[in-house]
Amino acid sequence: MKTFHTVKELRDVLYQERLKEKHIAFVPTMGNLHEGHMDLVRRAREENGIVVASIFVNPMQFGENEDLERYPKTLKDDQALLKSNGCDYLFAPDALEMYPDGKRSQTQIEVTGLSDILCGASRPGHFIGVATVVTKLFNIVQPDSAIFGNKDYQQLKVIEDMTRDLSSNVNIIGVDIARSQSGLALSSRNGYLSQEERDIASTLYATLEWAKDQLVLGSTSHEEIREQAQQKLEAVGFQRDYFEIRAQDNLQTPLEEDRSLVILAAAYLGKARLIDNITVELT
Ligand code: PAJ
Repeated sequence: MKTFHTVKELRDVLYQERLKEKHIAFVPTMGNLHEGHMDLVRRAREENGIVVASIFVNPMQFGENEDLERYPKTLKDDQALLKSNGCDYLFAPDALEMYPDGKRSQTQIEVTGLSDILCGASRPGHFIGVATVVTKLFNIVQPDSAIFGNKDYQQLKVIEDMTRDLSSNVNIIGVDIARSQSGLALSSRNGYLSQEERDIASTLYATLEWAKDQLVLGSTSHEEIREQAQQKLEAVGFQRDYFEIRAQDNLQTPLEEDRSLVILAAAYLGKARLIDNITVELT
């Protein structure tokens, strides 16, 4: 696997691959890679072409008081994992390679409607940063397909809507959430948790499963489910952010006839803000 730190080097090598009519599958990440990321790389391999990954901790998607400075950087380990899972090229630019001032671009991409709800309400500007950097990465890599995790459900929706709205021909592929045995969704931010907090953290998924059971059993009082879920989380030490039942297709409050739902949760535990979700198909 070759690592490139500049746009020009990556473009030159991908130009050659494209001349050979290779399919290019792309996995954007912020590094500190784990098995969830590797599921995306393995899915990218199934496209039977070249696999490109990126590692870039994107300043534009972090708020003022968030964890940009302490976001874990583990390039050597990441390279070894990517290599052993069949990645061909890694793009790992520094912030000045991506932004004139190292922080943000003047041009911003906003998927209106989706960007200021749920995680976007708690993290103003976050999805503008995500959509803008993903657009830049797509322009640099020019992939045929790009692989994202369902773990960041809202992010995947933002990317899907953005590519549709901007008539991009990148095929967006979503991959299931990878979890530890306890049910906790794998995340680079789990590293912020102490062992005790890690044990507590699995309650987030257990609570999503509980809420799903309530819906499947026929409960229609979403407000009651939400409130009880928040209380379950607070009882074990979480601080609330949001716990919402939404329609899968637009992430808005479901209409009575909506059958495909998703329950999305974000909560603080110690220094970490954890997110997770579960889909529900009502019959
Ligand atoms: P990052 O948090 O590193 O995640 C990179 C990709 O891995 C995302 O598509 C995310 O949904 C997926 N992922 C993370 N944990 C996962 C898990 N447990 N199971 C399945 N997939 C998982 O998401 C970002 O980086 C950034 O916002 C990025 C898209 C790279 C833009 O900066």
